[in-house]
Amino acid sequence: MEQRKIVVTSALPYANGDIHIGHLVEYLQTDFWVRFQRMRGAKVCYVCADDTHGTPIMIRARKEGRAPEALIAEMRERHVRDFSAFQMSFDNYYSTNTPENRAFCEDIYAKLENAGALRHENVAQLWCPDCAMFLPDRFVKGTCPNCGAAEQYGDNCERCGTTYSPADLKDAHCATCGSRALETRETEHILFDLAKYRDYLKQWLPVHTQTDVANKLCEWFGEDQKLLPWDISRDAPYFGFEIPGKPGKYFYVWLDAPVGYLASLENWCSKHGEKFDEWWGDPEAERYHFIGKDIVRFHCLFWPSMLHAAGYEGPTRVFVHGFLTVNGEKMSKSRGTFISAQTYLKHLDPAALRYYYACKINNTTDDIDLNLDDFAQRVNSDLVGKITNLASRGAQMLGKRLDGRIGDLDEEGAALVKAALSRSDAIAALYEERKFSQVPVEVCRIANAANEYFDRHAPWKTIKTDPEATRPVLSAVLAAFRAMAIYLAPILPAYAEKAAKLFGESAWTWGSLGESVAGRTIGAYEYLAERIDPAAVEAMVEDSKPTEPPPSADSQKNAAAAAPANAAACPAVKPAIAFPAFDAVDLRVAKVERCTAVEKSKKLVRFELDCGPLGHRTIFSGIRSAYPDPSVLDGRQVVFVANLSPREMKGVGVSEGMVLTAGDPATGLAVLSPIAPVRPGDPAC
Ligand code: 2FM
Ligand code: ZN
Repeated sequence: MEQRKIVVTSALPYANGDIHIGHLVEYLQTDFWVRFQRMRGAKVCYVCADDTHGTPIMIRARKEGRAPEALIAEMRERHVRDFSAFQMSFDNYYSTNTPENRAFCEDIYAKLENAGALRHENVAQLWCPDCAMFLPDRFVKGTCPNCGAAEQYGDNCERCGTTYSPADLKDAHCATCGSRALETRETEHILFDLAKYRDYLKQWLPVHTQTDVANKLCEWFGEDQKLLPWDISRDAPYFGFEIPGKPGKYFYVWLDAPVGYLASLENWCSKHGEKFDEWWGDPEAERYHFIGKDIVRFHCLFWPSMLHAAGYEGPTRVFVHGFLTVNGEKMSKSRGTFISAQTYLKHLDPAALRYYYACKINNTTDDIDLNLDDFAQRVNSDLVGKITNLASRGAQMLGKRLDGRIGDLDEEGAALVKAALSRSDAIAALYEERKFSQVPVEVCRIANAANEYFDRHAPWKTIKTDPEATRPVLSAVLAAFRAMAIYLAPILPAYAEKAAKLFGESAWTWGSLGESVAGRTIGAYEYLAERIDPAAVEAMVEDSKPTEPPPSADSQKNAAAAAPANAAACPAVKPAIAFPAFDAVDLRVAKVERCTAVEKSKKLVRFELDCGPLGHRTIFSGIRSAYPDPSVLDGRQVVFVANLSPREMKGVGVSEGMVLTAGDPATGLAVLSPIAPVRPGDPAC
């Protein structure tokens, strides 16, 4: 049979958050499947990347006073650290903010344009004059037009579930700066004409996704309903790729994110002397996406039709999975069940989660539950108690008393091992079909039979009276254990590696099941799996609860009441603020490259600042009366607020922060400067 060539992807995690146990449902199941395919001899390329573009990342970077590139570089390190701790075996982990991704986006865009798949239309959208940007739905908040719930996002109400457009909200305001002066402005957008691909999707879906997913989608865009055009452009300011020939317009993050699969593959190909077209362009090669059910629209409607319209091969299958619940409920920060990968790793062994998720995950879109008591119990009783104990007891007895040599088997032992090996095809089929939860069931069945055989022959007794007669018993148990460890290798790679070493082997393949171990001398037994201490689970949950609850209205009032008595007597002093409010202000030092008067204004000066690693910034300041010749500030160091939302100053430009001054404008105002020189960009306090 020809060697299978398989591209596999997991959804690209956003670069604005850490990996948590919910994400791991997907990454781990993809890894089980990929490792299984490699063990079966397929040529696999498993790619992933950070999903780096879009408004939330841009806004967060601004708030943190750094370039988005610095934020995504830091998040990438954190993601890579967490994935490797959980033994993820990506062939390439890349980023969407890369030249390859830009090139694919531009190529696909040009091909879509040529194919007549795009429409250019004016679209009205809310604009925040203070942030000087169009607001995506999630960046507008207001009162739900249906039920009156306050502070709802611009797309749907979390209380009554109604969906609406941001302009329908009452009291709409900018979620970033709070401005209520929102305007509706028209701007040209580029839309992908999805309806053109209705017939294509109708025949594509049932063949390329699970039945329930295909049925639901086909039902949704049934005859009388429309597949609405999909908006693939966003206006500046936006962190992403500018659209060729469309200055100030950027590809929407959801266009460039799946293209990131291609970019990561291309990057891997170029590093390994492979040809992209022999992987993505070859109809014989296979391409699989693992995704959660929340992003089905993007992967099963937009993505395949976009690839089809642009003349690219599409995915062979999209494997959709459900969400994670913990103890039967949605992950929750206050309950301590929103557990980050880091917090998990602080308390528990990653192999335990890999094993438990395998016990729960199958090929359906049903949600899976991590019941924390069941988790500890399954790992302790099955993985440690039933499976690993056979190896630890068998290997230690054979090693200590019988020179570690595996001997011939008696009839019963041979039958035990034969039965274990006979499950090879069935277990392979379970992996292939992603029925992972059945694999531990099969393995436990073998472990039960082996434990029953072990207990019946009581080798811990006979080893003292007739060691040689004990050899076949220990040999059979160890051979059965070896089969179990091979079956579990895609799920427990580190465990399998140590187990293989016990038998003097390096990496196992599925073919290793056919090799006999008779006559081999086993190596020293290495500890394979740890019992879960329920106290560690409790500690992990405690550790995941928010440490400082946000101050209540009462405590804020108390803080104000605790302000110095003379504060009230001085009208110029504003009400007291709690430390976190002060701490949220990011003060940095910059060097004034140039300070000039703003022509059209009597009050304003323009600072051009060198902010070190934060780059160059322009800040407008109303201090002209104090500095009629602003050039006296050239070359001076000043302190500025680095995380103030950018503000459009009518007719002069955007101000990217605030230079600190103190004093009374009428009687004398001074720009603040650090006493000792520091490097631009360094924090001022
Ligand atoms: O939903 C998410 O977390 C997205 N970052 C997934 C992107 S998957 C692909 F399209 F890149
Ligand atoms: Zn705003």
